[in-house]
Amino acid sequence: MPTNFVSAASPRKIDIQAWQVDRLAMLEAFLKRTLDESEVPERLREAMGYSLLSAGKRIRGLLVYATGDALAAPLDLLTPTAAALECIHAYSLIHDDLPAMDDDDLRRGKPSNHIEFDEATAILAGDALLTLAFELISSTEHPFKAEQSVRIMQQLAVSAGRSGMVGGQMLDIQATGKQVSLEHLQSIHSAKTGALIKASVLCGAYCGADANTASSGSALTALNLYADNIGLAFQIMDDILDETSDTKTLGKQAGADRALDKSTYPQLLGLQESRALAEKLLQEALESIEPISDNTDPLKHLAERVVTRVY
Ligand code: IPE
Ligand code: IPE
Ligand code: MG
Ligand code: MG
Ligand code: MG
Repeated sequence: MPTNFVSAASPRKIDIQAWQVDRLAMLEAFLKRTLDESEVPERLREAMGYSLLSAGKRIRGLLVYATGDALAAPLDLLTPTAAALECIHAYSLIHDDLPAMDDDDLRRGKPSNHIEFDEATAILAGDALLTLAFELISSTEHPFKAEQSVRIMQQLAVSAGRSGMVGGQMLDIQATGKQVSLEHLQSIHSAKTGALIKASVLCGAYCGADANTASSGSALTALNLYADNIGLAFQIMDDILDETSDTKTLGKQAGADRALDKSTYPQLLGLQESRALAEKLLQEALESIEPISDNTDPLKHLAERVVTRVY
C-alpha cells in the first residue's frame, strides 16, 4: 500500500478517502483513454461513452483495486481489470433498462441509453462494452502473464454469463409477478448481481499472484466468502432503496420494482427484516476477511459502503 495514504491520526490505518479518490482518477482516465482509441463508428463510440463514463459509483472497479491492494498486485494490471468490470457492468445496465427488460427511462441521473440514442444503438453499445472487457484483458499492451489473463477472462465469462449475471436476469424476468421462495430469491440476487461483485473481488486477487498460487491460498477462500456476502447485500440494498428512496437521489426511477411487480427482498421479508439481513451479511463479510493480514481497510470500507449507501 503506498505510504502517501497513511493517515496522520492513526499511522496503521490508511486515509481511505484519499485512496478512493486516487483509484477513481486512475480508472476514469483509463476508461476515457480506452474509448478514445481504436476506429469505432462515431455513434457507437458516443453511446458507449454515454453510459460507461456517466456517474456510476464504480463499486466493482473499486473492489478490484481494494482486493489487489490487499494482495500487493500491480496497478498496471488492476486498472485494466477494474475497467473490464465496469464495462461489463455498464453493458448490463444498458440492457437491463431496455423496454424488453425493465423498461426504465432514467439511469445515473440521465435518460437511459435507448432513450438518448435508440434501441438498436443501445443493444450494440452493450454488446461492444461486453466484448471490450475481453479485449482489455487479452491485450498485450498490459503486462498480464498469459495464465493470469486466461484466468481473469474465464472468471469474467462465467460470472457475466449463463450461470451468472445473464442467468440471473433470466430468473429475474421469470420471477416477475410471482411469489417465489426466499431460497429462490437469494439465488436470483446472487446470480444477477452477486456474480459480478464476486468477479470483481476474484479478478483483483488474480492480478496479485500467478494463477496457481491464487487458486490455493487461504486468502482466496476468505475473499470468496467476503464477496458472496457483499454481493447479496448489494442487491438487497438496491431493492430496499427502490422502495424507500426517491428518483432524484437514486438517479433512476424509484418504486420501479413495485410497479413491475418484481420479486424483491422487501416484498418477501418486509423492509425491517431486509435491512437486518443486509447488516448481518455485512458483519459476515467483515469477519471473513479477518484472517487476511495485509491491508484490508479498502475492502472493509467498500463492504460498509454497500450496506450504508443512500443511492
Ligand atoms: C445497479 O448497480 C444495478 C445492480 C446490479 C443493482 P449500481 O448501484 O452499482 O449502479 P451504478 O454503477 O452506481 O450506476
Ligand atoms: C439489475 O437489477 C441487475 C443487473 C444485472 C443490471 P435491477 O434491475 O434491480 O437494477 P436497477 O435497479 O435497474 O439498477
Ligand atoms: Mg432488472
Ligand atoms: Mg432494472
Ligand atoms: Mg433495482
